[in-house]
Amino acid sequence: MKTVAVYSTKGGVGKTTTAVNLAWEASQDFRVLLWDLDPQGAATFLLQVKPKLKGGVDALIGGKTGAAKAIRSTRYERLDVLPADASYRDLDLVFDHNKNSVERIAKLLETISSDYDVVILDCPPGSSLVAENALHAAELIVVPLVPSPLSLRSLEQVTEFVSESASAPQVVGFLSMVDRRKTLHRAAVRDLPRSSSTVTNIVVPSSVVIERMGTERAPVGVYAPRTEAAHAYSELWVRVQSSIKAKQRKHRH
Ligand SMILES: Nc1ncnc2c1ncn2[C@@H]1O[C@H](COP(=O)(O)OP(=O)(O)O)[C@@H](O)[C@H]1O
Ligand SMILES: [Mg+2]
Repeated sequence: MKTVAVYSTKGGVGKTTTAVNLAWEASQDFRVLLWDLDPQGAATFLLQVKPKLKGGVDALIGGKTGAAKAIRSTRYERLDVLPADASYRDLDLVFDHNKNSVERIAKLLETISSDYDVVILDCPPGSSLVAENALHAAELIVVPLVPSPLSLRSLEQVTEFVSESASAPQVVGFLSMVDRRKTLHRAAVRDLPRSSSTVTNIVVPSSVVIERMGTERAPVGVYAPRTEAAHAYSELWVRVQSSIKAKQRKHRH
């Protein structure tokens, strides 16, 4: 089982959008679990799953509710969701009350590791205990970057935060919400992948096709498969896979 966290210290940069589309792309070939870690429950909503967790996240993390019991299937084959509900607002406190507070997500995932090939974690923004848990569990962190002079700074923040994690996951950044009519955005697309080896040249455009996810409540690849947006997410999944493989090779040598 491979675990990928979609994370940024910032909100509203496209984390959930990326998590849902990556999970759906991965489910074309693999058994995938998307874990919605944000109390807003946006990923849960977008995949048309009920935002309900019996006993709340406290019981899940404490081991009273087995993960398999809390997981819901989606309308897509091989794609399941571990939904978030309002109880996720207290998740930081729940972790704080448990021992090995940074390893709880990883430990819970171990219990279902034979059921899934890929786990995607949709993280809330910020540097919380939730984020630390996600970074600890993941071997790869995907970071959406909105083109701006500050985006490299936000990537550095993530890299710094990640480097404090014992598991030292790999970081893959990509530009999201790119509007090519804007000079600043075109410059970011040209310069960022060159100035930082952690930024790929994959570009997700700012697009009404992606905005429509909220009304379609489906991944872009389902209702608009032949668009630039859908292709970008498909490419991103391919890149994530090859990064994981490259990391494995490095570890073997
Ligand atoms: N590439 C894009 N083009 C247009 N709108 C986007 C794009 N990516 C995300 N959005 C919209 O921006 C808002 C924030 O995206 P979201 O994925 O929820 O961000 P986060 O999870 O980082 O808070 C949502 O309304 C989403 O539909
Ligand atoms: Mg989100």
